[in-house]
Amino acid sequence: LFAGESLFVKGVVAMSGLPPADRVEVCFAGRSNVGKSSLINALTGTKALARASNTPGRTQEINYFTQGPGLYLVDLPGYGYANAPLDKVKQWQKLLKQYLSGRQTLRRAFVLIDSRHGIKTVDEEILTLLDTSAVTFQCVLTKIDKISLAEREKVLDQVRGALAKHPAAYPELVLTSSEKGEGIPTLRSIIAGLE
Ligand code: GTP
Ligand code: MG
Repeated sequence: LFAGESLFVKGVVAMSGLPPADRVEVCFAGRSNVGKSSLINALTGTKALARASNTPGRTQEINYFTQGPGLYLVDLPGYGYANAPLDKVKQWQKLLKQYLSGRQTLRRAFVLIDSRHGIKTVDEEILTLLDTSAVTFQCVLTKIDKISLAEREKVLDQVRGALAKHPAAYPELVLTSSEKGEGIPTLRSIIAGLE
């Protein structure tokens, strides 16, 4: 599934703009700046396919990328950044809800959690939304290169504790570093197994 070219397809702001549901699709959700775009770049082995940046809230559309002929990787708008206008937040939440419950070919939603911060209140809101949306979801810890081994144990405990309240979540956690490549082959094979 990870053979072949990866391309940017389009940015989508409404359900009517989604490309044809003709292949396996996975999406990446998470707080602004958690590393969604960087993870898509790492998975596809590209440097700047998805735009990564230091400016939180950069990705404001649902961005579709193809990987080879059989897979869509979907970069969702980041949530929970400070100073977001409330009407915009509401608009995103609505679109996100529609997308997560209305996309037939969506095989899994990956919820990215910054390994330095663990699961926050805003993440809980998304997990709660996912509980009722029929799509399987799985947590991916990002930026694992930024913490020590002792800190890993702590954040894993925190995340496992929080996930206990979401029995619909896929229990296996994936630890990743887009910077160092850790966990990227594991995540690729999880996605490849979703066909
Ligand atoms: P939004 O589009 O604003 O929601 O952000 P995003 O979730 O797409 O985050 P993005 O990929 O743009 O990354 C945010 C910042 O974190 C960038 O400065 C990245 O270089 C950095 N970053 C992402 N992944 C890693 C990682 O695995 N390790 C380290 N050290 N830094 C990372
Ligand atoms: Mg982004």
